[in-house]
Amino acid sequence: MSNTNKANEAYEKNEKNEITESKKAGGADIIKAENISFTYDGGGSEEKVEALKNISFSVKEGSFTAILGRNGSGKSTLAKLLCMVLTPDGGRLTVDGVDVTSDETTEEDIYEARKNVGMVFQNPDNQIVATIVEEDVAFGPENLGIEPAVIRRRVDEALDIVGMRKYARHSASRLSGGQKQRVAIAGTIAMRRRCIIFDESTAMLDPIGRREVMDSIVRLNRDEGITVIMITHYMDEASLADRVIVMDGGEIVMDGAPSEIFVRAEELWQCGLDVPQTTELLWRMRKAGLDVPLDAFGERECAEAIEKALEKAAKI
Ligand SMILES: Nc1ncnc2c1ncn2[C@@H]1O[C@H](COP(=O)(O)OP(=O)(O)O)[C@@H](O)[C@H]1O
Ligand SMILES: [Mg+2]
Repeated sequence: MSNTNKANEAYEKNEKNEITESKKAGGADIIKAENISFTYDGGGSEEKVEALKNISFSVKEGSFTAILGRNGSGKSTLAKLLCMVLTPDGGRLTVDGVDVTSDETTEEDIYEARKNVGMVFQNPDNQIVATIVEEDVAFGPENLGIEPAVIRRRVDEALDIVGMRKYARHSASRLSGGQKQRVAIAGTIAMRRRCIIFDESTAMLDPIGRREVMDSIVRLNRDEGITVIMITHYMDEASLADRVIVMDGGEIVMDGAPSEIFVRAEELWQCGLDVPQTTELLWRMRKAGLDVPLDAFGERECAEAIEKALEKAAKI
């Protein structure tokens, strides 16, 4: 059997029900970073930039992690290490059980590990490679040497997941920003990526495009069991994740469930971040002496918490 066929077989085995099974089982670590660091050496003439310092964390298969942090805090560098565009210059990084930082790991194993992780970037216009939508989605799997019949099925499935099936034969350049991003997501789904990293993929979109893309991201995590790591500046987006990591100065400074992180309003402000508007309102009300919880960041929970506190205050 040729290597291409072997790769195909491995890919086909990697069907979504298997992913969902492992998610139900509590999820093994798809990514494990132990004290990884990365310095841009500036090519000799410029200053060295220590972009990441001793980062340790792991990501469970099937989970949804949001990464927050001010500009320059190291988020994109971390994303590039996780999808193996860059190699850490210290520490150990394991992707799907393969130690990609070990000298003993073969090129072939790294090649296989790399296939697990895909990335969707910020600019929708830089990610389209073909003129017709379905050709664009097929481009990745074609490059992997997958059979045309299998590609056809995957392209249709992937376009369904992002709600773009009816645009399959449309010209990609005429789509809106949100639609282009969804086509880019479909491309990564068609490649059977088990983990997709979004690097501010909604930053250039209008509110409608943002909502469409977020809906697709949530669906591919919840229904397809794909592990999502989403770098964002928007708190409402981060609140959809099961875990929020906050970076500052090349380090992880907070890591927890959204409800645990958003209550730490003052620390978030120190990291140059906002808190959700609901959290800020609750925080101000607490400062004013009203007994409200800080973790009611959902709009409805926030309104209910305020109503309850006002009723209680009226009784005293
Ligand atoms: N190609 C590069 N060469 C030199 N320095 C870089 C390069 N890319 C990023 N940096 C620097 O590394 C630090 C982290 O950048 P980055 O990972 O892009 O942060 P973020 O995505 O959080 O804005 C910043 O100080 C940035 O200026
Ligand atoms: Mg960045």
